Amino acid sequence: MTALEPTSIIVPLPITLRAATQHDLPKLEWYGQYAHFRHLFRRAFREQQLGRRSILVADCNQFPIGCLFVQFARADDGPIKRAYLYSFRVMEMFRGQGIGTRLLSYAETIIGQRSHTWALISVAKDNPAARRLYERLGYRVYAEDEGRWHYVDHRGNLRYVHEPCWMLQKPILMG
Ligand SMILES: CC(C)(COP(=O)(O)OP(=O)(O)OC[C@H]1O[C@@H](n2cnc3c(N)ncnc32)[C@H](O)[C@@H]1OP(=O)(O)O)[C@@H](O)C(=O)NCCC(=O)NCCS
Repeated sequence: MTALEPTSIIVPLPITLRAATQHDLPKLEWYGQYAHFRHLFRRAFREQQLGRRSILVADCNQFPIGCLFVQFARADDGPIKRAYLYSFRVMEMFRGQGIGTRLLSYAETIIGQRSHTWALISVAKDNPAARRLYERLGYRVYAEDEGRWHYVDHRGNLRYVHEPCWMLQKPILMG
């Protein structure tokens, strides 16, 4: 019996950056990996419909293989409008190919079009690779935070998070 030789094939995989739709909501859970954030995804989607947030996705074959959430400033936040970026992730097998960088730049364009002058993002202190990526893209640390927050998971349990983080900011040109 002859050994089966591995064979490589190359497939074109176009990626589209766009705002999430209702159909993306279950898929954003990535087959259970992020099921615990179900209520947060739904709330963010409702806020997107009201124009207060955007859920940006990197779509490959109608599946969100990457995402980045944007929370826009509220009317009572004062004259300087800051948008907060969070829940930034790309599926492991798609990392290191520029998708995250392009998602960030897509978000910054939208933030500029919405007349915000700053983009903020927080990064866990134990995630130096992500911090390096942000600094390379022009973000600078301006504060640190205890990163304490809580949420209700998909089973109705209250979950507490404690993730000390750096806060970074970047000035955005208005579009
Ligand atoms: C951070 C992340 C969204 C970047 O997406 P990406 O598509 O891999 O980004 P790009 O290909 O545009 O850039 C790759 C850079 O991201 C950095 N990076 C950060 N975390 C990484 C990770 N877990 N795996 C691979 N690269 C990572 C790499 O070091 C690389 O920088 P380098 O070129 O200096 O080595 C993605 O790596 C990810 O999902 N990481 C896990 C979740 C996470 O840490 N999110 C950030 C929370 S603040």
